[in-house]
Amino acid sequence: MPLKAWFPTFIYCDKLQPKGLAKFNDELAAECAQLRDYDEAGRKWSEKNYPGGYTSYASMHELHHFSSTFGGLEKKLTKHVRAYAKALDMDLRGREIHMTDCWVNIMPPTAAHSLHLHPLSFISGTYYVRTPKGCSGLKFEDPRLSKFMAAPPKLADAHEANRAYTTYAAEAGNVILFESWLRHEVAANRVDDERISISFNYAWR
Ligand SMILES: [Fe+2]
Repeated sequence: MPLKAWFPTFIYCDKLQPKGLAKFNDELAAECAQLRDYDEAGRKWSEKNYPGGYTSYASMHELHHFSSTFGGLEKKLTKHVRAYAKALDMDLRGREIHMTDCWVNIMPPTAAHSLHLHPLSFISGTYYVRTPKGCSGLKFEDPRLSKFMAAPPKLADAHEANRAYTTYAAEAGNVILFESWLRHEVAANRVDDERISISFNYAWR
């Protein structure tokens, strides 16, 4: 075919580290639970803005500065973010990247997170701590959707790169990275257990 793809949207997904994930995730899960117990303002905010679940997004969103466990996670994640930025050919010579925000999301049954993007950053992502079997994945939307004017619908068996949405399964120990402008959502958790993830943003200077 005389075809070539241009302007692709790359999504990165990899294991955080080759070994020791179970122990690290146990430590993170324990801290996430402690945080929810401690963070009254966050619980209040979540009641209104994150129904059924808990997020520290509006109350404690710089966890990498407050906890050595989250600080350790930051170091590990930064390696992945560098690799991703390199694959995107971003020119970071003589520049620094840094984590600006890092927050916890606990989703019991029914909790959902509707379509959004992450302002004020260039790379964002999620690390999965607890992912009960069958819990919702991370669904991304084709960033050109708002520009489609008269396109016919896609075939049911369209090539995966040609679909308007793609969903990455949530898997404990995995880190998913995307450019911060890419809209995404998490469908309601339909599993009778808590799904725990840590989201984060990176900026450059
Ligand atoms: Fe997000």
